Amino acid sequence: VERHLALIGFMGAGKSTLGAQVAETLGREFVDLDAFIEEFTGRSIAEIFATDGESSFRSVEYAAAEAVLDRREPRVVALGGGAVTTAEVSELLGRLAVTVLVDVDVERAWERAQGSDRPLAHDEADFRRLYDERQPLYEGVADAVARDVHDAVLAAGGVSIAPLESLGELVDGPAALVSDAHVAGIHGPTAQMALGARVASRHELPPGEEAKTLDAVHRLWHELRLDRRGTVVALGGGTTTDAAGFAAATYLRGVPWVSVPTTLVGQVDAGIGGKTGINLAQGKNLIGAFHWPRRTLIDPAVLATLPERERREGMSEVVKTGLLAGEPLWELPVQELVRRCAAFKTAVCLRDPLERGERAQLNLGHTFAHALETGSGGSVTHGTAVALGLLAALRLSGRDTKVVEELLRPRPVAADRERAWQALLRDKKGALRLILLGEGGPRVEDVPAEDVRRELDRLIT
Ligand SMILES: NC(=O)c1ccc[n+]([C@@H]2O[C@H](COP(=O)([O-])OP(=O)(O)OC[C@H]3O[C@@H](n4cnc5c(N)ncnc54)[C@H](O)[C@@H]3O)[C@@H](O)[C@H]2O)c1
Repeated sequence: VERHLALIGFMGAGKSTLGAQVAETLGREFVDLDAFIEEFTGRSIAEIFATDGESSFRSVEYAAAEAVLDRREPRVVALGGGAVTTAEVSELLGRLAVTVLVDVDVERAWERAQGSDRPLAHDEADFRRLYDERQPLYEGVADAVARDVHDAVLAAGGVSIAPLESLGELVDGPAALVSDAHVAGIHGPTAQMALGARVASRHELPPGEEAKTLDAVHRLWHELRLDRRGTVVALGGGTTTDAAGFAAATYLRGVPWVSVPTTLVGQVDAGIGGKTGINLAQGKNLIGAFHWPRRTLIDPAVLATLPERERREGMSEVVKTGLLAGEPLWELPVQELVRRCAAFKTAVCLRDPLERGERAQLNLGHTFAHALETGSGGSVTHGTAVALGLLAALRLSGRDTKVVEELLRPRPVAADRERAWQALLRDKKGALRLILLGEGGPRVEDVPAEDVRRELDRLIT
């Protein structure tokens, strides 16, 4: 979360354009290293190359990279195409940045670079030779490859969309593999194969919300034999990643963990962003910690084994994400839908990792949802409750509710009205601050209690 995002790749790949976009999305400062050098030296890159030669330029470039990356506040930095030919620059990136290769094919790159004043783009044959030479170098340095801003945001958050078989590449040192029995039975063997000799131990959490109890986490703490170099790998739905992530946050005052969400809820929401925790009788998620997973591996292919009921649970979060993003993400094919929703959540969480501000927008509809879950004594599922909560939030926002009604078909549920209302009031003393959806995006608004009560009552049979 704290690392810079460095964009590398051949000239003409579009690093500067993409860099500026990613920086804006993440609310970070953007530095184009070539522009920085030109400003700093008062000379153009072409001129430094022509008068002082390439090796002299590379020293200046290294010094500039060092100066730009020597900052606590994470930045987005676009490096020149040849920067990583300097071993010290690559070493610097390995230490301080998540490095992303902005890929481009040679035709496209030449199209963009020819006729420019780039010193190494005068002759097409030389240009192509250089491209072939550089490619393996880029691949060696890059942590991820990006085609667009969403890929780059995911990389900045340590989120990979990749097959479960590649899990081994994301885990260093001994691993404790945690899942519920059901997921262990279906996807456990693939995860174990991928981790190979790194698997130090395997652990089972109870199914569903039972995992998010002190008893279950207590048992897990007892079983864990990792030292601080070990990694907890949580393979499963949101209950598994919440509970195992919390165990990782607290065991030995915190060991790294890798989140491998296997439900739609997990892949678009729960497995991302570092909120971990367990429940109390008084309410859900009341005990927990912010503990960003070292890596998050999302393989949409594992959703093939997910029961329809669980897929529907996830669609509520997908619709929530699309409403917040202002785009019909729910219309996308599943692979792309997961990538876009995951990138949206990653961006919000990177901008506000500790939920001091805008991250609260992710709770759209959730105030009502939690009230319904508590008011029904847990018999209303989270997805159903969120669908109803979104309906109420849209009504209070004066917005069209068609999308929610058509996609999620929410029907009022049986719940104790008074208990639901008390649950809603629990941490909302005084005016009721809700996340509503304006034309320009989410906003926080004080809503009169009688309006909130009326909308809550409409959701209950
Ligand atoms: N931390 C966060 O930011 C965050 C965000 C949203 C939700 N959550 C939490 O997530 C939890 C809900 O997560 P969930 O809906 O994933 O529930 P879950 O973890 O209980 O999983 C649902 C069911 O699906 C099964 N399953 C999982 N993956 C499967 C697969 N690939 N194939 C077949 N079956 C599979 C599980 O065994 C389980 O029975 C809630 O506790 C909620 O509070 C957390």
